Amino acid sequence: MAHVWRGIIREYLDRLPFTEEDRIISLGEGGTPLVHAPSISQEVGADVYVKVEGMNPTGSFKDRGMTSAITQVVKDGDHTVVCASTGNTSASAAAYAAHAGLQCVVMIPQGKIAAGKMAQAIVHGARLVQVDGNFDECLDIVRSLSEDYPVALVNSVNPYRLQGQKTAAFEIVDQLGDAPDIHMLPVGNAGNISAYWMGFAEARDAGGATRTPRIWGVQAAGAAPFVAGHPIKDPETVATAIRIGKPASWDLAIAARDESGGWIRAVEDAAILAAQARLAADVGVFVEPASAAPIAGLLAAAAQGEVPQGATITCTVTGNGLKDTATALAGHEVEPTVIPVDVAAAAKVLGL
Ligand code: F0G
Repeated sequence: MAHVWRGIIREYLDRLPFTEEDRIISLGEGGTPLVHAPSISQEVGADVYVKVEGMNPTGSFKDRGMTSAITQVVKDGDHTVVCASTGNTSASAAAYAAHAGLQCVVMIPQGKIAAGKMAQAIVHGARLVQVDGNFDECLDIVRSLSEDYPVALVNSVNPYRLQGQKTAAFEIVDQLGDAPDIHMLPVGNAGNISAYWMGFAEARDAGGATRTPRIWGVQAAGAAPFVAGHPIKDPETVATAIRIGKPASWDLAIAARDESGGWIRAVEDAAILAAQARLAADVGVFVEPASAAPIAGLLAAAAQGEVPQGATITCTVTGNGLKDTATALAGHEVEPTVIPVDVAAAAKVLGL
């Protein structure tokens, strides 16, 4: 019988803090494709794969952390979850809360999240509060709320989030048969880079992988506190998902970078948009801008001769392009050709 994927908690139960007895809240997340990128591989002189996290139920990697966070909330008997978000966390929290029968409150920076993500929070029935401030300020509010009121925080400062998200590293090891030489991903609030490092280290310790990869993190130039070496006050980038100046998992991300022998660098918005277009045109994978940051970072590193030739490099592309079609189409002239219902007219317009 074909293997049917059962969601990350059931698939990796022995490596997560849950048991068969728990009521597992799952939408079937994880099990995402690792897709080879031939033209990018050729350009950089390495074997490059993209881990397509936009294939998750709500279209981003957040679902891995949300199945575990919400499963724990249910276990604890809480009824309301709260999060701050640049859009994907709120979409995921809203969906998993709906599935579990919980109330969900989301705080988002006004005017700074993509339309698709906003739609997700709304259709899943979350209470949406827009804040006249940025993500970092939204996170400050929800952290205080969760300390003073009976609401459970499901941002990645909740340790169950990182537990779920580490499973992406397990999958990459399973898919390649070992850890890659280098793993790349975008860095915003820095939960995911921390979760991947934990996952790769656990996979090595458990014997599934013979080594850990170097972790190369990529930020947007206008929102690059790790590159600056300190938090920044007014982050700005077209990649709204990573428009973050004060990452919550600062120390864990620094540890991931340094213990792995990696780095965290920044790329300009124009390079992010070019990499997004390249992934869509060359690989057939449509990602949101933030997700293209690691590809932009990889191409920049290659241009400087810093990519070890023949290395295996995996890049997490974190979110689905359909969430933010406005940004993707902004540089395109969309002039649809209209013809009558007529084969000859179709052939003529196509130059056949
Ligand atoms: N890529 C996408 C598409 C994201 O939505 C995020 C974070 C990141 C990368 C960065 O991951 O924060 O773990 O370093 N989005 C959060 C949100 C902040 O609210 O959806 P990180």
